[in-house]
Amino acid sequence: MGKVRSDSFFDSLGNPEEEAKKFDLFHLPQGYFDFPYTWYRLLRDYDPVHQNSDGTVLLTRYNDVRTLWKEVTASVDKTEMFSTKFGGGPLLEHHTQSMLFRDPPDHDRLRAIVSPFLTAQSLTQFSEYIETLIGQLLNQVQELAEFDFVTDFAAKIPVQLITRVIGIPPEDGEFLRSIGARVLFPLNPLVSQDAIEGGHRAVAEFSEYLIPRIKAIKSKSPQHDPQCILEALIQAQQSGVEISDSEIVHMCLLVFNGGHETTTNLMAVGTDSLVSMPDQYRELAQKSEELGTFAIEEIIRYVTPLQLQGRRITKPMELPSGVTLAPNTEVIISQASANRDERAFEDPHLLNLRRRPNNHVAFGLGVHSCAGISLARLESRIMFPRLAKRFPALRHNGVPIFNENVRFRGLKSLPMSIS
Ligand code: HEM
Repeated sequence: MGKVRSDSFFDSLGNPEEEAKKFDLFHLPQGYFDFPYTWYRLLRDYDPVHQNSDGTVLLTRYNDVRTLWKEVTASVDKTEMFSTKFGGGPLLEHHTQSMLFRDPPDHDRLRAIVSPFLTAQSLTQFSEYIETLIGQLLNQVQELAEFDFVTDFAAKIPVQLITRVIGIPPEDGEFLRSIGARVLFPLNPLVSQDAIEGGHRAVAEFSEYLIPRIKAIKSKSPQHDPQCILEALIQAQQSGVEISDSEIVHMCLLVFNGGHETTTNLMAVGTDSLVSMPDQYRELAQKSEELGTFAIEEIIRYVTPLQLQGRRITKPMELPSGVTLAPNTEVIISQASANRDERAFEDPHLLNLRRRPNNHVAFGLGVHSCAGISLARLESRIMFPRLAKRFPALRHNGVPIFNENVRFRGLKSLPMSIS
């Protein structure tokens, strides 16, 4: 990690510009999933407004990414693109009805209902629970001594939190995780028909799971202020806010997926990175109070668990790198690349827990910027220092295996030992 290996990679290229032009998100080069940053650097330097084989434009420079994200006229509506990719059916319905893929005013109508449950203030009620849960999980892995950090630890934390915030039984978390993964995977650039079919079935399974719960809540007249996102969505509907049952289902699925996949990946890839840089891990173990929240922001920058985003341009747009995009251009923003841009960060491939300032863009910008930012920060600000203090000698115990997911980069397996 801290791989400066892109330097030698660059030296080995005959014509870097030609190599950059050949890059294609739809035919990824070998080794991409282990370390995509080599190719992003190549693109930033030689082809920052890059065309993929399907005509989409990939932006990799920090200033371009920021500009596009803040452009209020850029659209997230993917109905046309996803209709071609998914055909009709539940998967298309999901990825066009949640607020993530809706432009204002529909986006704002939906976001206003869930936002109050995701503020730093409303989440403080969970701090003690997170401390307890992490304490228990640390005890369990201590007993194991050798364990898989993903399945035995990281994957067990965010799902417990997000089910509580939504208002669904935490014991259903594991079952819902498998649904979530199948719903998200088809958002990747190149996916098989099987993965798309699996996505349709997964959305249908989630609807079958949630609709009886919605009916049960509706059958009782509300006795109190809503305590969770599901109750809030239902009460909003009952008090006349325009929101359909189908939107309620898709909003819960969006919040569930947003709430666990990214944060689990942050914990696993973040730990893999820290343990690979023992001086940084030692600092965290010994000086976490002094390092404060800046250290966690640096881990988030370095990992950037959600790596790509899509937008469609609706009017001509000049980018800081000098290129003007035409209306109707489908753009893919790489925040993974932006967060490693040498033009914005000194030594970006180094994890530096003392980095300041750190204006990373891992949570996005503009109207769709991450709704769960406070929850992600709360969980990781507790988890990382606790782990490092408790197991200062944590080390790899096998080869980490990355998932093959371009958008939600994470680890399938991270064998570790505490001694
Ligand atoms: C480290 C963890 C996380 C990262 C890196 C992350 C990243 C992001 C990014 C980049 C976006 C913007 C998408 C876009 O512009 O198209 C986003 C949106 C969103 N995130 Fe997160 N997220 C994280 C954790 C969470 C959590 C814990 C939740 C739980 C509630 C959550 C819920 C959402 C939702 C609902 C949206 C859609 C916002 C909208 O469309 O207005 N995220 N996230």
